Amino acid sequence: MRHLLSVRDLTRDDAVGILDIAEDMAAVATRAVPKLPTLRGRTVANLFFEDSTRTRLSFESAAKRLSADVITFTAKGSSVSKGESLKDTAQTVAAMGVDAVVMRHHASGAARTLADGGWIDAAVVNAGDGTHEHPTQALLDAYTMRKTIHGDSARGRDLDGLRVTIVGDVLHSRVARSNAWLLTTLGASVHLVAPGTLLPPGVAGWPVTAGTDLDAAIADRPDAIMMLRIQSERMQDAFFPNEREYAREWGLTEARLTRLPADTMVMHPGPMNRGLEISSAAADSARSVVLDQVANGVSIRMAVLYLVLGAGRHSGESA
Ligand code: NCD
Repeated sequence: MRHLLSVRDLTRDDAVGILDIAEDMAAVATRAVPKLPTLRGRTVANLFFEDSTRTRLSFESAAKRLSADVITFTAKGSSVSKGESLKDTAQTVAAMGVDAVVMRHHASGAARTLADGGWIDAAVVNAGDGTHEHPTQALLDAYTMRKTIHGDSARGRDLDGLRVTIVGDVLHSRVARSNAWLLTTLGASVHLVAPGTLLPPGVAGWPVTAGTDLDAAIADRPDAIMMLRIQSERMQDAFFPNEREYAREWGLTEARLTRLPADTMVMHPGPMNRGLEISSAAADSARSVVLDQVANGVSIRMAVLYLVLGAGRHSGESA
């Protein structure tokens, strides 16, 4: 695998292969010294043009567990135009001799622009580009679902037959986009629930069903329910009347939680707006796998860095 830009570049076998390597990486974490020498001498640059806590820390810790050198750059926003800033960044990074670039950027398509720009020779991993994609988030979500259901016999499996409901600010969510495509590639069926104003106009072209009624979706007894953060920073207009109204219609309240099957996984990519899209009762319940998602994120990112820099990189494999 040369880069990881979009989950749409992954076949079922590619995706299952990444999840399986992440299983091996998770085993490393339980050792007395949770480190592998695999990427010794390689340098990973984390370029975060947009706010992030868990994704940045997760990639850093993944690279360090593989013994890579890590340099991290964070900048909120940029006054430079998109093309210029990416080219400058790429050239700076190339001059430092970086082997992989993990990039989060506010512009949709930025990771692919960097990969295809011809400015650097490094592997590019998309850590979130605008409202477009967040491939490692979808991979860690798929991993969490597979692990929660199959435990120690997860290896080799896909998500055939799994029913996943994704709820909330789909319009602005790269997490929803990446999950819609990856989960269906893995055999799951995905249903989206959102206020009409927060369903993207193009959703008819996605491999999902969509509706506006959360109570009806809950009555359908999904295997997993993924609550999305309301992305106020991406909203110039009012997309719903007010927060109370949103929580009442589309929030995972305590009352809704009690109507879900006892084994439905409650998921959220973080950061959570408690009391808005998710109640504390749901976030902290026994059904919540929110912290498993965070822990599994490190294993997934180790697997991805290993594939773009390690075995797959020079052997001509496409993982
Ligand atoms: C997500 C993101 O940045 O797209 N968060 C994350 O990666 N932990 C989701 C979000 O910000 O709502």
